[in-house]
Amino acid sequence: MKFTYYGHSCFGIETGGKKMLFDPFITGNELAKHIDVNSIEADFILASHGHGDHVGDLVSIALRTGAKVIGAYEIVTWAQNQGVKNTHPVNFGSANFDFGKLHFLPAWHSSSMPGGEYGGNPGGFLVHGEEYKFYYSGDTCLMMDMQLVPRYAKLDFAILPIGGNFTMDADDAVIAADFIQCKKIIGVHFDTFGYIKIDHEATKKKFRDAGKELILPEIGVPFNL
Ligand code: NI
Ligand code: MN
Repeated sequence: MKFTYYGHSCFGIETGGKKMLFDPFITGNELAKHIDVNSIEADFILASHGHGDHVGDLVSIALRTGAKVIGAYEIVTWAQNQGVKNTHPVNFGSANFDFGKLHFLPAWHSSSMPGGEYGGNPGGFLVHGEEYKFYYSGDTCLMMDMQLVPRYAKLDFAILPIGGNFTMDADDAVIAADFIQCKKIIGVHFDTFGYIKIDHEATKKKFRDAGKELILPEIGVPFNL
């Protein structure tokens, strides 16, 4: 399974022959300047919440690729109002898609659209893919609800924010990894802005010391998981 990090909290995952793109925000990210946003392919675009650093490129990629946009009803409506036709609104719970079952789970954060409209509740995704099961928490602090995740699925890997300030920091992400019972964590939501700069080696060590692996992927360099 191919994983491509596009910077901040944006990543692409190919599973079961389907291309899933999460939280597209590329053109506003200085660290992702070398990424050609028009080269990104997607069958599905999933938005965890409405903040600009998660949906900045959602509409343009959806219009170009025809990908199905999945997210809170309010986010999907926002995309529809900009011409996106292929959409599937969700709220907390589960739904079935071509790539498998999807749980949309709560996150402790906020959610307004870039224009200020209400974005619904912020959330995270648990993907029960044919080949892999993985959890992306979205922007959130550490929360007890994460302990539900292992009751739903034995995860192959998880994507968690580690930058602190607006989300969990690495110390809390280590506890989150315990809650979700997953040893392989891919870190996101770090380095993009001044508030969330991290020391890569020290952060990886925190996870190693806890018997876990933290992957900090290079932007635009696909790798196999
Ligand atoms: Ni946010
Ligand atoms: Mn964010």
